[in-house]
Amino acid sequence: MRMGERKSRASGSDSRRVSRCRICRDRNLTRVIDLKRTPLANSFLSKPNDPEKWFPLEVLYCNSCGLLQLSEVVNPNLMFKEYPYRSSSSNSMLQHFRELAQSLSSEFITSSKQLVVEVGSNDGTLLSALKERGVRVLGVDPAANLARLANARGVETLPTFFDSDTADRIRDERGKAQVIVANNVLAHVDDVHEFMRGVSSLLEADGILSVEVPYAGNLNQNVEYDTVYHEHLSYFSVHPLLRLFSDFDIRLERVARLDVHGGSIRVTGRKTNKKFVSNPFVEFEKRCGLNRLETYQRLSDRIEYQMQDLRETLESLKSEGHEIVGYGAPAKSTTLLNACKIGAETLDYVIDTTPEKIGKFTPGTHIPIFRTERFQKEQPPYCLMLAWNYEKEILLKERQYTGQFIVPIPYARVLSRNSSS
Ligand code: TMP
Ligand code: ZN
Repeated sequence: MRMGERKSRASGSDSRRVSRCRICRDRNLTRVIDLKRTPLANSFLSKPNDPEKWFPLEVLYCNSCGLLQLSEVVNPNLMFKEYPYRSSSSNSMLQHFRELAQSLSSEFITSSKQLVVEVGSNDGTLLSALKERGVRVLGVDPAANLARLANARGVETLPTFFDSDTADRIRDERGKAQVIVANNVLAHVDDVHEFMRGVSSLLEADGILSVEVPYAGNLNQNVEYDTVYHEHLSYFSVHPLLRLFSDFDIRLERVARLDVHGGSIRVTGRKTNKKFVSNPFVEFEKRCGLNRLETYQRLSDRIEYQMQDLRETLESLKSEGHEIVGYGAPAKSTTLLNACKIGAETLDYVIDTTPEKIGKFTPGTHIPIFRTERFQKEQPPYCLMLAWNYEKEILLKERQYTGQFIVPIPYARVLSRNSSS
């Protein structure tokens, strides 16, 4: 085992309870959401009766810095060593990363000697787009299967967790990075201080840190409770992020809201020792109540209501004898299906395009996962859109579908037949 892996993981056992805030270390944490126990979101089963590990799924609010975080940290080796999710699995994400490659290279890269390091680089989708633009790149991802895919397509990728040891090794061997990208990875990291130490040591003076995380403002606004799963240890708003960055001399320069993953933010920071400045976004968050405990207590009630509504919608269709299937087996469907107790008695099957998921069974609920072609051939009368964050893309792709989609978020609704044509 490499040094970094030992440092990055929850020590020894399968999980640990959180007693202090991950960012500000305060102990004043209040439980605001309780989705009960679920299996790990991406632990798809080869056989329906394979053994499964279940862990509590609860969100705590830090009364000091405002960070939302899970109460239980599962050992990352159980979640990220083999990872079935691929960045390239949807057209929207491919497009998203192509645009990011374009803007990073034109705005921040001035010479072909400069290095871009991506942490959590997955199958190399973003880095390969940068490489095509003549940029020197390096990926870091602990999932051996993904690092292999990336290396095979010519994107050099280290199959390891990122921490200060990894960062120092990269810096010693290849020099400092002009840009560090961390998309959909910071929420996965338990020791964010160690992560930021790595960033700080690897980044050039005046270099750029570009981070994308799902946004707590969207979780709250759209009741996106299914984005809560064990891989997501933190649910960021700008205020706690600003605090974390400034502890490591990263000045937050820009916040952009993005449509991806049900609503994310891209936060751009610059390494500098100049005095840190606040950001207008923090004022916006105050107006939305994202810095108040009551907001999330209310969210918990809205979640209960929304889950009940979805259950009733599906039960009523079942009682009328209709067949229902599921579209997509994203990680978040594990939360939705388990929290709402929707299993194989309700959904005949779900379909997904990811080769690693096809032929397997959904965690906890044991619904078989088939190829999309089966859905297209059988045209089941109802289809629960589990990958609801791709609603537009799916409606376009499935405009020949003769049945009706049920979209679960932000509230359960059955789309009329002609809205998909
Ligand atoms: P994500 O929401 O984490 O990006 O995961 C999306 C999942 O949905 C992924 O497993 C691929 C799957 N999917 C399909 O099967 N068909 C589709 O058309 C789309 C857009 C996604
Ligand atoms: Zn805190």
